[in-house]
Amino acid sequence: MSAPKKLFIKTYGCQMNVYDSERMAEALGGEGYVETKSAEDADMILLNTCHIREKAAEKVYSELGRFKGLKAEKPDLKIGVAGCVAQAEGEEIMRRQPLVDLVVGPQSYHRLPEMEAKARAGEKVLDTDFPEEDKFEKLKNRPKAKRGPTAFLTVQEGCDKFCAFCVVPYTRGAEVSRPADRILREAQDLVERGVREITLLGQNVNAYHGAGPNGDLTLAQLIWELDKIDGLERIRFTTSHPNDMQDDLIEAHGTCAKLMPYLHLPVQAGSDKILKRMNRSHTAESYIRLIERIRAARPDILISGDFIVGFPEETEEDFQATMDLVEEVKYGTAYSFKYSTRPGTPAAERPQVDPAAADDRLQRLQALLTRQQREVQDSMVGREVGVLFEKAGRFPGQMVGKSDYLHAVHVADCDRQIGDLARVRIVSSGANSLAGELID
Ligand code: SAH
Ligand code: SF4
Ligand code: F3S
Repeated sequence: MSAPKKLFIKTYGCQMNVYDSERMAEALGGEGYVETKSAEDADMILLNTCHIREKAAEKVYSELGRFKGLKAEKPDLKIGVAGCVAQAEGEEIMRRQPLVDLVVGPQSYHRLPEMEAKARAGEKVLDTDFPEEDKFEKLKNRPKAKRGPTAFLTVQEGCDKFCAFCVVPYTRGAEVSRPADRILREAQDLVERGVREITLLGQNVNAYHGAGPNGDLTLAQLIWELDKIDGLERIRFTTSHPNDMQDDLIEAHGTCAKLMPYLHLPVQAGSDKILKRMNRSHTAESYIRLIERIRAARPDILISGDFIVGFPEETEEDFQATMDLVEEVKYGTAYSFKYSTRPGTPAAERPQVDPAAADDRLQRLQALLTRQQREVQDSMVGREVGVLFEKAGRFPGQMVGKSDYLHAVHVADCDRQIGDLARVRIVSSGANSLAGELID
């Protein structure tokens, strides 16, 4: 038997790319590839890329440049680019970087085995179609390897919202929901392989409306179906849009014990003028009222958000409105970005904010968000939380896991295993994590 070929995948961007990289590794596993952690060892290198901000896209070209020497030493090495940069500028990549053999967009991963064969035969291959078939269904024949306790599961992909700054509707295409039975089968399979916590993924996950036996299911209905799976202990989902936060989903946060008290609900900005120009179709006020309703259903829920500062035509006053909204909501965690011009999106053509002003605003916003994050984390001290252990800690006998609220928690003298769920009392709050002790 010949030695297996080695595959090195580097993943950038969002969790959906992490999920997709796993699927690509499995698809190429069927072609005799095993994964390696080192690019130097590889027979095939795949970069699974992100196009969301300019810096993310540029990274791909600098990373590719670094493989030049490797390819010179090893002419049989194949280099592929996948993900959202592949979708957005596939042909440009081929032109700009001749060492790329293969370009595959996010909707074509099920065609990877054929593409790999062509690349091996010396062809340059590019596939950035949006085919009709369900790629995940085609990708499902995978080995039943044991898995860690947490997993991602894509339930919805693409977006029809067209926020004025965002490339996702172009790179991931129109919003599509996977049928419920396929998701439930995949979830069952994950649980049989050791998974205890599933995070449902979608660019607009709460717009989920996949086919069920008696018509379409909402995300909340899908969650209730998942709730029935024995051995599945925790359910999360990301990313949600405020306009798709339906009543049954809010209610599920209060009534479904497996649904974790954590919600990532990006608002992007606090000024109605800017929200309108972003094409967000919600106001600061409607968002705040929504958060109130969610907290009424689940008072301890941890709210997470995304923010963009320096969006075209943002004034200091507009920025202050974002700061005011943050003060009011109180975020447990948040991601904030300086607006990055994305060619082809509506906002790219508009008058841009002075970069120094945008930098200054980003710093002020991040200082506030960091303070809030710290306050929320510190407020956990003294409380009892569930912790799902994911790995051994740095010290002997120490285990590390995530709380219900997604805080990292260290427990010393811990006799539990990876994959165990335990009740833990939080005793102290550190820079980026909590320390706790087992109860009983
Ligand atoms: N689907 C999600 C997230 C999309 S991308 C949503 O609807 O919110 C993740 C985050 O990247 C966005 O929430 C936004 O805050 C940020 N982002 C997207 N495009 C950007 C751009 N052009 N410049 C800066 N940040 C951007
Ligand atoms: Fe992008 Fe807006 Fe769609 Fe989110 S909702 S993926 S920010 S277009
Ligand atoms: Fe990036 Fe594409 Fe995800 S642009 S954030 S990898 S959907």
